Order: sequence, then C-alpha cells, then structure tokens
Amino acid sequence: MGTKINEIDEIKLELKRDLRDSFSSDSVDQLNTKYLGKQGKINTLFKTLPVKTDPKIGRQINELKNLIQEMLSAKLTETMGDEQHSIDVTIPGTEIPRGSLHLVTQAIEEIETIFLRLGFVRRRYPEVETDWYYAEGLNIPKEHPARDDQETFYVGDNTVLTAHTSNGQLREMELKKSPPIKMINIGKTYRRQIDASHTPMFHQFEGLVIDKEINITNLLGVTEYFAKSYFGQDRRTRLRPHHFQFTEPSFEIDVTCGVCQGTGVIHKIPCKVCKSGWLELGGAGMVHPNVLRNGGLNPDECTGFAFGWGVERVLMMKSNLPDLRLIYSDDIRFLKQF
Ligand code: PHE
Repeated sequence: MGTKINEIDEIKLELKRDLRDSFSSDSVDQLNTKYLGKQGKINTLFKTLPVKTDPKIGRQINELKNLIQEMLSAKLTETMGDEQHSIDVTIPGTEIPRGSLHLVTQAIEEIETIFLRLGFVRRRYPEVETDWYYAEGLNIPKEHPARDDQETFYVGDNTVLTAHTSNGQLREMELKKSPPIKMINIGKTYRRQIDASHTPMFHQFEGLVIDKEINITNLLGVTEYFAKSYFGQDRRTRLRPHHFQFTEPSFEIDVTCGVCQGTGVIHKIPCKVCKSGWLELGGAGMVHPNVLRNGGLNPDECTGFAFGWGVERVLMMKSNLPDLRLIYSDDIRFLKQF
C-alpha cells in the first residue's frame, strides 16, 4: 500500500513540473495523454493495483485523476487566452501614409536644377523688404502704380512684403560687387489678389546675368533653354515689347501653348487654353543703367539682363491646372496626384 501512496505523490510532483513548463495548448494536450490517456499514468496505476487492495487507495487515485483533470483544463484555458493575445507576425501591419514634397517645392527644385546646369547660383533674398530694394532702387518712383497699396502689402511706412523678387537684383549686385553675376533668386511674393489664376502668396524665380557684353540674344538663349527643358523640346518662345521701370528695353516672354502646339486651333476650333497659340511666361529685359548704378556697378563697363517669372504660373502652364487655388488647398486627393 505504501508504494502506491508514494507513486501518487510522485505523479503530483511531476504534474506540477510539467504544468510549469508547458506554455501552449498543444503541450497541455500532450499532458492530457500522458496522465489521463489509455496508456496514461492514472490508468497504469489502476491496472497495476494488486487484487486485494485497500479501497482507500482506489479513492485516492480517483481524487488524483479529478485533480489532474481540473489542473489541465485550467492550464488549457490560460494558454489559449495567451495565444489569442500574442502577436501574429504574418498579419500585414497598419500602413503609415507616405508624405511627399508639395508640388510647388517639386517645381522649385526642377527650375533650380535647370538654371544650375547653365551655371547660375541659387539665392534667396528677404521677403520683407525696405522701399529702397523693392522699389526706389529699382527705378520705381514714389508715384508709380506698382506702389499702390491695393497691390502691395505694406507692413510699415517703409517696409513691404515683396510683390516681386526683383529686390534680389540690387542685393546680388551689392553682394558680388563686380561682374560676372549669374543668379537665380527663387522666393515668395505677395500681392493683394485672389481668383482662379492668382493667390495672395505665390513664388517667383528671378534671373539676373551681368557681365561685360551681355545682350538680348543671351536673354533669348536662356529663355529658350528654360522653356525647352521645363515644358518640352517642341516649345518655342517669343519676345513682346513691354514696360518695366527697372529694365530697358523691356519684354513679355511668351511660350507656345502645349495643347494646340502653338497653332491656336484644335480641329479648326480656337484653342480654349491659349486662344492665340501663345501663353505668357512673364517679364524680362535688359537691366536699366540706373539700377546697375544703384547696385554699385558701372553701366559703362557692364550690361545685363533680368527676368522674373512665376513658379505657380509655369506649373499651371505645364500641368494644365484649372484653378491655381487648388495648389494651396489642403485637399489631399488633389495633392496626392503629384
Ligand atoms: N518684377 C517683374 C514682375 O513681377 C518681372 C520682371 C523681372 C521684369 C525682371 C523684368 C525684369 O512682373
């Protein structure tokens, strides 16, 4: 009788150890077979009982069997709970949305790259500027309409938010002190305006080239190079006479329309985008002698050309955007396309 009692105690101890070491429902299943299966420890105990045995022993084995059943089922519940909460590395993760550069930033980078290839230096000059750099020094007298506060944001009597990037011309001349000068100033500009093709804040890129014998053909070459690089090799450009205070002569530059290929008609119907075959790129001209002087240079020794074109404008011309304001909307469906 004593040996059977010992065996019961040993089984209890072994079970304790086995339970401590099992962490999955599969291993609990195996313990079930080990202790309660046909060939399991409990059955073996019963089978090996001598014919004449104290009924107490039989009862104790039955109690042990019940105990094992209870403990195994408790362990099974525990391991199954753990398995439900554990990490399944095969489930696809939550996708974190990817950001991208804003389309204006992309355009600025593209424009910059084109001019860097021609040997220009990229600059950024103040967007809050004094009257001298913004107007007076650029040959714009006090009564000139460009100073009209309907157009310009004044932040003080003598200070404005720049309505063009041309202030960079004087600043670059002062910085370099002598030719050659070849800069592209890309920055923010501000005007009191808002409609489908104007926003109160927009960007301009201002080119300035000054050297000993710079002439209009140099301006034409750079303009053509830019138009073909940015819009496509099939585009052409032209100059139209215009007026700016800080250039003489002054021009507006046009680029052939990409929709009608510069013909102005599509299947005998006038082109809706340009009407004439040409789209306006922006202003340009030969730097006015007064401006050279105001920048500390001698107009008898050097000449130069300048141009100031809109980043959003070229972007619209290239992508055929219907409304400029879309660019500054926070509609992610629109922005995601770029
Ligand atoms: N500053 C002019 C504008 O904003 C553009 C321009 C720049 C014209 C340089 C001539 C030379 O429209």
